[in-house]
Amino acid sequence: MERPIRRIAVNTGGGDAPGLNAVIRAVVLSALRRGWEVLGIRKGYEGLLDTSKIVQLTRESVRGLTHLGGTILGTTNRGNPFEFPFVLPDGNVTPIDRSGEVVNHFNRLGIDALIAIGGDGSMRIAHRFAGKGIPVVGVPKTIDNDLSGTVITFGFDTAVTVATDALDRLHSTAEAHERVFVVEVMGRYAGWIALNSGVASSCDVILIPEIPFDIEVVCRKIMDREARGRHFAIVVVAEGAKPVGGELVTRGPKEVDREVRLGGIAEQVAAEIEHRTGKETRTVVLGHLQRGGRPTTFDRLIALRFGAAAVRMVAERRFDVMVALDPPTVRAVPLTDAIDRMKNVPLDSDTVLTARDLGTCFGDGE
Ligand code: F6P
Repeated sequence: MERPIRRIAVNTGGGDAPGLNAVIRAVVLSALRRGWEVLGIRKGYEGLLDTSKIVQLTRESVRGLTHLGGTILGTTNRGNPFEFPFVLPDGNVTPIDRSGEVVNHFNRLGIDALIAIGGDGSMRIAHRFAGKGIPVVGVPKTIDNDLSGTVITFGFDTAVTVATDALDRLHSTAEAHERVFVVEVMGRYAGWIALNSGVASSCDVILIPEIPFDIEVVCRKIMDREARGRHFAIVVVAEGAKPVGGELVTRGPKEVDREVRLGGIAEQVAAEIEHRTGKETRTVVLGHLQRGGRPTTFDRLIALRFGAAAVRMVAERRFDVMVALDPPTVRAVPLTDAIDRMKNVPLDSDTVLTARDLGTCFGDGE
């Protein structure tokens, strides 16, 4: 007979996203209700490499958490245990596999299941640990909304809300000064945040990674507006957008244990627009404002639903899966569904078609 579940663990990995604390609260309360104990692993998997970073999570630990941004467990987008950075005597850094230590600590602590909250990187790590015998359930988090297998990730709605608010605010100052604003939003290699906030705030130009842009087409749109007496324009650009035949704009070289940092495309686009149109063009980079602070109602709700569903999956002993929104329900999908391919904006999606019908320019001349 299988031994009953007695103790589970939860961790948060990758970049933070509004709603992480709400997931933790739902996990803890749903588990305690079943008579299980919950351990919080601090900073992704670091708590399973250094077990002094493990904390007991109680009803008190998760009181009043639903509306709070960040994560009480801390997080990191470094320190993948399968490729852990090791500093060589010459100062160079090389990746080493420390996953065995994680598995040993997990077993020694008598943990029956792990709920891993994270984005694509964390789901990939979770799946590799499932392959090493750790019973794991994933919870899809990322403001980028680029995880497959789920209609939406928590954190995305808050990021879009922040971006939409910023774009709305820039409209009045852009119009007052007859300027062009180029606003850079996050999203990595997917254009979900730029697309949704750009449509919701009636941007004139939306540049996303899925549609390489021609700067000439962008400038034509701005000058067409000029000719119609609209002497300002708002361009929203995803950090991963690039011109036709051009390269991604990154900040510094890739480091051993983390993904390359994107950013800087707004400056390039703005410089080109100013040069070609003669219009004063300013940039705003929203950056981590999109990740900080209180989750929206939608994100709180979906985060709580995901957390509770993850505990139900553990109770049903369904592992190597990720909870996913498949409206109207939340169900489990194999972790491989989430990590096999990135979820990009489909070019024939209703939102793209709507934007085109409203006259929004994607920089591709269509
Ligand atoms: O994946 C979430 C995200 O915010 C991306 O949109 C962005 O490219 C990246 O993380 C930034 O990460 P960091 O926290 O390292 O700046």
